[in-house]
Amino acid sequence: MMAASLLFSVPGWTQGAIPSATQRPWMNTADSPQQRAALLVKAMTLDEEIAMMHGVQPIPVKAYVGYVPPIPRLGIPALTETDGRAGVGNGATQVTLLPAPIAAASSWDPALLNAFGKVLGNEEWNKGTNLALSPSIDVVRVPEWGRTFESYGEDPYFNGQMAQAEIRGIQSEGPIANANMYLTMNQESNRFKEDSIVDERTLHEIYLTPFAAAIGQGQVGTAMCAYVKTNGTYSCESGDLLTDMLRNELHFDGFVMSDWTATHSTVDAVDHGLNQEMPGQKFFGQALKAAVESGKVSRSVIDERVRQILTPMFRQGFFDKPNTGSWTANVQTPEHASFSRQAAEQGTVLLKNTGGLLPLDRNVSIAVIGEAGGSRPKAEGAGSSGVVAPYIVSPVDGLRKAAASGTLITYADGTDLAAAASAAREAKVAIVFVHTDETEGSDRPDLVLPSNQDQMVAAVAAANARTIVVLDTGGPVLMPWIDKVAGVIEAWYPGQEDGNATAAILYGAVNPSGRLPLTFPRSADETPTSSQQRWPGVDGRSEYSEKLEVGYRWYDATHTDPLFAFGFGLSYTTFHLSDLSVTPSRDQGGTSWRNLTLKVSVTNTGRRAGAEVVQVYVQQPAANGEPPHQLSAFGKVDLQPGETKPVILNLDQRAFSIYDADARKWKTPAGKYRVLVGGSSRDLPLQREITIH
Ligand code: BGC
Repeated sequence: MMAASLLFSVPGWTQGAIPSATQRPWMNTADSPQQRAALLVKAMTLDEEIAMMHGVQPIPVKAYVGYVPPIPRLGIPALTETDGRAGVGNGATQVTLLPAPIAAASSWDPALLNAFGKVLGNEEWNKGTNLALSPSIDVVRVPEWGRTFESYGEDPYFNGQMAQAEIRGIQSEGPIANANMYLTMNQESNRFKEDSIVDERTLHEIYLTPFAAAIGQGQVGTAMCAYVKTNGTYSCESGDLLTDMLRNELHFDGFVMSDWTATHSTVDAVDHGLNQEMPGQKFFGQALKAAVESGKVSRSVIDERVRQILTPMFRQGFFDKPNTGSWTANVQTPEHASFSRQAAEQGTVLLKNTGGLLPLDRNVSIAVIGEAGGSRPKAEGAGSSGVVAPYIVSPVDGLRKAAASGTLITYADGTDLAAAASAAREAKVAIVFVHTDETEGSDRPDLVLPSNQDQMVAAVAAANARTIVVLDTGGPVLMPWIDKVAGVIEAWYPGQEDGNATAAILYGAVNPSGRLPLTFPRSADETPTSSQQRWPGVDGRSEYSEKLEVGYRWYDATHTDPLFAFGFGLSYTTFHLSDLSVTPSRDQGGTSWRNLTLKVSVTNTGRRAGAEVVQVYVQQPAANGEPPHQLSAFGKVDLQPGETKPVILNLDQRAFSIYDADARKWKTPAGKYRVLVGGSSRDLPLQREITIH
């Protein structure tokens, strides 16, 4: 070791002597990633360490959105970073466009999210990316949030389960994943300056929870600190966020990179826990070196930050099996395309189906109406998550392919309302496709469908009683025409297989089994954040004064009826839940319980195969001051007609806990708790009381 560190003290990595394998003690794969990272840090010069702590601009390799050059002297590979919430982004071509994450999450199936992560991770890796800037896991607080489509929904536990599953999928294929965006990144309005004013309890119980799962169960390698401030301090220089919460509470051992240009200081940022400035070196280049040399930042802080950068690089095997992928490679496969379709099908939510109009016979004549139905399919959202789709199957093409031969399927783009109405009148069934244009960088002004789409639906519905509306939206919209139409389907932004997936649902080749991961309100003033103070904020401050009442928690607490509740979704069959039992599993020999095992029987009472999502909510004693009830477990089960299966789920102690902000810890108060089980947050027929002493 002595000899080695002498050799490595040559300043500047380009001129340094190249050590042989035996002189690289960090290359022993029997050591842990942490040990290996610590050994490597000892061998690094200050310049080499600083070089790891920022990206370079312009990027020498025209491809990746973020790039940290390699250090050949020490065998440290470059970090090649690419966006990709729904497929490899940043202009990459010959990649698969998956459905938006909100669509995949609507499957309520972590196994599907795991497969989603695998497809994404595999394509990123084969493009030469070793750090995938995904997933985006923030709780949807504001329904108008422009990045709702990139996230999973409004429940912290739910988002955490989806996040850990997707992260494990991505990282199993090679790249390090990234928990994007830490923390309180809940609106686009004023996003470079906005200050989220939020109490400690809410911060822990709601906003931190998905990150806890990403780190604990998901072992995510990196997190991205957000543009916004939390309680007066920018995320990327907040000791509360980066050190107290991320390191001390959640035991995160990877690294934090700043969102693009979200670093605001040198000394504060590095001292409080930021590891890497992206995409350039305004604060963490020469300025950081000078701060170390003048004693403002200690070398031991630099060592620790770099060790945290190297740890996930070792854990992912970057030093042992280099990435040989290439940005110009065609990384699509037939399996990825068929997964994209499957994910879109599984995420589609049937919201209304009067008189069992759906599924349609394959020989009924159909008028397809709306730009999203043909001339301009709406397969993805916009911003850094944008993907260059290899193709998009439009809904009208998907329907024509799936219909019985000779069936008449007409198309009108809906810009001319009279033409749309007359097309609807001439067909047996009218299917209107409506869409929103959601994007990073701006929130939607309201929840109204843009341009003339509400009028288009009304005109079509007036012309044909058998009107079905397909929503290609990234989040909730208002439906003033809801009572006039026979059917409504939320297909989200479905990815490249758009029309094939939607046709499979409309014709019943696939029985819809998606459930809403967020609430659809009746009106824009009946949402948790419908005051200026809450969103978009006043004088740059967004007051999180709804506290724990985020999403359905608010609707339940204020007795506000939503249009469609969190967890809701119909099927072409029906289900019955029965025989709920709840058994505590105790520590061996002890009297205290660690978790509860819950068992429920689910029967398919209809005539088609289908899947039900069993949802478990916990109602805490009133004295705990929690929202009425909160999602604490869920499980999806496939059933043949008439079949009954048991579903077994675990509830851990967290479901019976609250965060005590004064004591700065979780506690489980004694009292009577209720476990509520059913098919949505508003349909919970099975209940059991649990007394905690
Ligand atoms: C977004 C991040 C993204 C980064 C790099 C930022 O504008 O907020 O989610 O990873 O750009 O493209």
